[in-house]
Amino acid sequence: MILIIDFGSQYNQLIARRVREHHVYCQIEPPSITPEAVKALDPDGIILSGGPASIYEKNSPKADSAIFDLGIPVLGICYGMHFMVDALGGAVRSTGKREYGFAELKVKKQEGIFKGLNKLSTCWMSHGDSIDKLPSGFKTAASTTNTEMAAAVHARKKLYAVQFHPEVAHTQIGKKMLRNFLYDMCGCKRSWTMKSFARQSIAEIRQTAGDKKVILGLSGGVDSSVTAMLIHNSIGKRLTCIFVDNGLLRKDEALKLKATLKRHLDINIRFVSARSRFLKALTKVTDPEKKRKIIGRVFMEVFEAEARKIKGAEFLAQGTLYPDVIESVSAFGGPTSVIKSHHNVGGLPKKMKLKLIEPLKYLFKDEVRLLGKELGLPEELIWRQPFPGPGLAIRVIGEITTRRLTILREVDDILLQEIKKAGYYKKLWQSFAVLLPIKSVGVMGDLRTYENIVALRAVTSKDAMTADWAKLPHKLLGMISNRIINEVKGVNRVVYDISSKPPSTIEWE
Ligand code: XMP
Repeated sequence: MILIIDFGSQYNQLIARRVREHHVYCQIEPPSITPEAVKALDPDGIILSGGPASIYEKNSPKADSAIFDLGIPVLGICYGMHFMVDALGGAVRSTGKREYGFAELKVKKQEGIFKGLNKLSTCWMSHGDSIDKLPSGFKTAASTTNTEMAAAVHARKKLYAVQFHPEVAHTQIGKKMLRNFLYDMCGCKRSWTMKSFARQSIAEIRQTAGDKKVILGLSGGVDSSVTAMLIHNSIGKRLTCIFVDNGLLRKDEALKLKATLKRHLDINIRFVSARSRFLKALTKVTDPEKKRKIIGRVFMEVFEAEARKIKGAEFLAQGTLYPDVIESVSAFGGPTSVIKSHHNVGGLPKKMKLKLIEPLKYLFKDEVRLLGKELGLPEELIWRQPFPGPGLAIRVIGEITTRRLTILREVDDILLQEIKKAGYYKKLWQSFAVLLPIKSVGVMGDLRTYENIVALRAVTSKDAMTADWAKLPHKLLGMISNRIINEVKGVNRVVYDISSKPPSTIEWE
């Protein structure tokens, strides 16, 4: 495995992605990781990430320099390079000018991490500091016009440092350079596959859970379904899943999901209908955060009441993914942002003294889909678009009533039908409708109308952290709009959301 030390770069996840694309497992840890903890992880190599700080600033993040004495190959990227140079007796200075964007990279010798790579190529730079003096034993291995020491190497100690970003697609030799580092310098094997992950994970869950019972909140989304499959494959009927129908799902969703889950997952599922309870609690609430809090609280109450019926449960499983875990760790040590709790059961383990099992916490979404495939999950579950825990409550803008939920369900259903028919469902990260709290004037037949407006939202994204509005064909949008206005009573205007994230978000509330 490869250990990535996180100095706060926006590209950290990308580094992890690139390593895994080479079928090597990696894990991101903060700079505060001790040399003992590093030894315990026993990595084949270490990658020091970039970061926004300057190494000579007082509170710049630093790892223990003893990591360079462990005999483990290290690759420092950008700030990671500065940290390596500084820690080993070299010098870093501010150039007074940020170098940002493309630069022509000249490799001195095609050896080591540059073996077999082009001597001249384009790389991606993003830095304000540069190396002034290399530590003893290091040699310059590549340069650009502005940066003399764009790469440096201490071949005997297997220490490598680059000023540019190999993880970014714009760096032409980035992928191959990383491959050389992983396979030739670190001796990594191509062992990270979903098959090996599944095998290992099932064995681990079996060992952790022993002969105890596990409960899991099943939403029908890909994360919780894959978690259910993994745990079921480990401990069989000692897993009980709880599915809560909160009345905020899409049209016929609860019924369809129930059928799909029953058909494909031969597991214990308790279906709990709590529609009226949620709706009652949401009466007259318009503030989005309040809606989320209420839904979270009611979900906890319903889930807990059901969970208590399962005697002898000692574990709660959750489908937490790696981006959620990474978001909660900062380069400077402690947690910065709160972990997104999909089903807001965060408080439950403490209250019921349950221990957590989170088998997907080192996976990215597309890896989870591959794992689902490996475990034999049907396509219709693997390729479901993400759906937020608070459901339609945050898509009915303003007050939530049964009538407004029904209007939105009908609109959303037409949108999904057409998106699926046109072959866009899998290509889009999410596609959905939003019911606005304002009305507009229209004319139908000879009559003036004063009815609701709906907004359609369709986005492409890799991980929901950034997203672009989907450039759906006008013909398709026109047809969806026509169908909605003709078929859904109470809607006389349809608009299409053309904002990207950032600065907008995917959901409207
Ligand atoms: P935003 O709107 O922040 O959404 O761009 C990013 C992703 O998260 C989903 N989302 C939520 N999921 N509880 C959830 O479980 C929530 O409160 C919530 N809010 C947003 C959203 O659908 C998108 O995939």
